Amino acid sequence: MPFDHPLLENWTPEQSARMENAIFVAQHRLHELELFSDELLIELLDRHPRHDLGINTMGTDPVCREDWQEGRAGNLNAEELYLACRRGRVWLNLRRVMDHHAEYAKLVNTLYEEMESVCPGLHTYNRSANLLISSPDAIVYYHVDCPINMLWHLRGTKRVWAYPLESGIVSDETIEGVLCGEKSEELDFRPEWDELATVYDLQPGEMVTWPQHTPHRVVNTGDVNVSLSTEHMTKRGARRNNVFLANRHFRQLLGGEFSSTELTGWRAGLKELALRAARRIPAIAPAAPQGYEYPITFEVDLDAPDCVRSLTETEERQPVCV
Ligand SMILES: [Fe+2]
Repeated sequence: MPFDHPLLENWTPEQSARMENAIFVAQHRLHELELFSDELLIELLDRHPRHDLGINTMGTDPVCREDWQEGRAGNLNAEELYLACRRGRVWLNLRRVMDHHAEYAKLVNTLYEEMESVCPGLHTYNRSANLLISSPDAIVYYHVDCPINMLWHLRGTKRVWAYPLESGIVSDETIEGVLCGEKSEELDFRPEWDELATVYDLQPGEMVTWPQHTPHRVVNTGDVNVSLSTEHMTKRGARRNNVFLANRHFRQLLGGEFSSTELTGWRAGLKELALRAARRIPAIAPAAPQGYEYPITFEVDLDAPDCVRSLTETEERQPVCV
């Protein structure tokens, strides 16, 4: 599919310099593409493998992250699932769209190439993307992501809270725990932290991103929401993850301090090198991160309240990997 105009809009050098250094909103034109029409979204949903389709529902209180539930589609087809998003309280996550759909791989790579051409020094790798389709009042609980992520908003409106790392509300130990898979990405949240947040009402045609590991939460504020969430890594991003993981691993292995999160200089380089070496030696290798598995507790049902029918104890509740 050709993309015959720039996908980024009004990216000035001053704006580009904010990438990865600040909570940053900028304009794009992805929402103008035919690719995100109702018809093609339903067609995409139909082609997308169900094993890479996340289906969730949630409560209304941002503090109660335990209300986040994993569900299944049952016998619903793509059109019915899309309708459930419009009508109910459902969150669809079409994971790894670049791996499953060539047109998305081309789109996301074109987008990153444009970004790299306007952001001096930006070199990205391990690019991936998930397409999010969610109900008009769906929410996402306070959490931290491990890679660098960007939310390209396409349809509907949503309010985003991002909590600057400088506020200190997320400890280095928490980030270490999320990176090594000991903690889920969703974290305990206190409403008074909202005073520290940068809040943005995101419109179609806007993108929001923030420095890696910045905690954030989202509330949809109108209409069915469609967003493309892209993730990537940079050398600095990998260094950051490795420094946090090295601090934890070598503290556990050797005791002592290992708490500096400095990313430059010979000490940071040595930590990253040592962690990479340790991964190759089984006796001292850190355990591979384990994803948290949610049990399946509901089925999408167009006739149920919020299009969510809880499964009874006697119905099957297979776990899924997330
Ligand atoms: Fe996120």
